Amino acid sequence: MKNVAVILAGGVGERFGSEIPKQFIKLAGKPVIIHTLKTFEEHPLIHEIYVVVPREHYSYAIELIHRYEFKKIKKILIGGDTRQESSRIGVFACGDDVDNVLIHDSVRPFISKEIITNVIEALNKYPGVDVAIPSPDTIIEISNENTIENIPPRNMLRLGQTPQGFKRDIIMKAHQMALNEGFNKATDDCGLVLRYKLGEIYVVDGSEYNIKITRPLDIHLADKIFQLKHIKISGKIDPHVKEYVKGKVMVVFGGTSGIGKDLVDLWNNLGGFAYPFSRRNGVDITKSKDVENALKKVCEEKNRIDVVVCTAGVLKLEFFDRTSMDEIMDEINVNFVGSIVVAKASIPYLKESRGSLILFGSSSYTRGRAGYIIYSATKAALVNFVQGLSDELSDYGVRVNIVVPERTDTPMRRMNFGNEDKSLLLSSEFVAKVTINAIGSDITGSVIHVRKQDEMRERMNGDM
Ligand code: CTP
Ligand code: MG
Repeated sequence: MKNVAVILAGGVGERFGSEIPKQFIKLAGKPVIIHTLKTFEEHPLIHEIYVVVPREHYSYAIELIHRYEFKKIKKILIGGDTRQESSRIGVFACGDDVDNVLIHDSVRPFISKEIITNVIEALNKYPGVDVAIPSPDTIIEISNENTIENIPPRNMLRLGQTPQGFKRDIIMKAHQMALNEGFNKATDDCGLVLRYKLGEIYVVDGSEYNIKITRPLDIHLADKIFQLKHIKISGKIDPHVKEYVKGKVMVVFGGTSGIGKDLVDLWNNLGGFAYPFSRRNGVDITKSKDVENALKKVCEEKNRIDVVVCTAGVLKLEFFDRTSMDEIMDEINVNFVGSIVVAKASIPYLKESRGSLILFGSSSYTRGRAGYIIYSATKAALVNFVQGLSDELSDYGVRVNIVVPERTDTPMRRMNFGNEDKSLLLSSEFVAKVTINAIGSDITGSVIHVRKQDEMRERMNGDM
């Protein structure tokens, strides 16, 4: 039994409107289409992959796809003017030895292995298989005059997704018949099989995460879905992260107290080499020279730097109009400029080691907070900085992420907020453990949320 996946990437994404077609823009450090291809590449029941790309971006696509060294991609084809045409080109490229063809939109990067399996299994019984989810909204049918014609019962309506799977002969025939008829209005492949009554099409459950990136808003949604799906990082150190840490060199700016200090202690306990710096040992992160010298010293001693972390930050609780401009500039310098200085100085070392940069934000980045607006504004800026930098560095194998803990029990916090109820605060040790798990994973461009509720749950489960 031979199963081929045809990945459609022949469109130009008019509704999305980016300069390069949406399937090539980056999501969490990798082009959208690469996420999609990876899932099919790693699926044991998919034997070959054919990719259909736009004529105008053919060489770009070839170069991009080759860079990721997929083993199952056997053909990269030039698409047509419509999705139907691109799909036909993919289907017609399937030889006699192919049994099943799965046709999937390249711009649905969250397709799961499970859905692919279900489609392939259903093809044992049905000649065609669609993937769909119930509609949360009522769907109405309108007339040309924009009045309601009909409201079909919602329980019988579904929203169609992809992949759509077919017996090869059936889908070939459907496309051939459409070609003969001159029919070119199909928005999906099941539509053709239905039109020419070539067999029953079974519907398997899709997923609300399996969105199609269509309009600009969808890429924000995709960012969030990516985080929900991938960033469930626990506070229990993963066994292969333990392996990873051994012998690795980490530099922590802000490493002499709070989260930074816990990070240093934990790293050393796991068999790594951690070097803490802060004003206490004469390193001011707002000064490039200080940071450069610190990194240079470590590299001279250890010959490499694998990880650079910046936990340094200041928070002074005070209303904006009562804060002097000097104090404001100082806060911007430490919280924002400092992290930029650290990033700038670290990049050469991290390119060399294909290493990891971790900055620290705060959960206040999502919304400015009265009483510490400069702090929350700088943290929001850092999130934006990390997202962009991760894209620029992904080709060098350098990972860039930002950890955003909720309120954490640290000396700085105690200084500003007094002695709060500890049961409401994250422990800095838990934040350090999550951070190390993130460092040991291959994620990049992510905002890693650390929540008290996760710490409590993991404590209850005895996972820590
Ligand atoms: N597609 C294709 N060839 C075309 C048109 C579309 O292979 N001539 C692919 C797209 O690349 C996409 C999938 O079909 O992966 C779904 O189509 P859609 O979301 O409509 O993408 P575009 O056609 O590129 O976008 P738009 O309709 O906004 O121009
Ligand atoms: Mg389209």
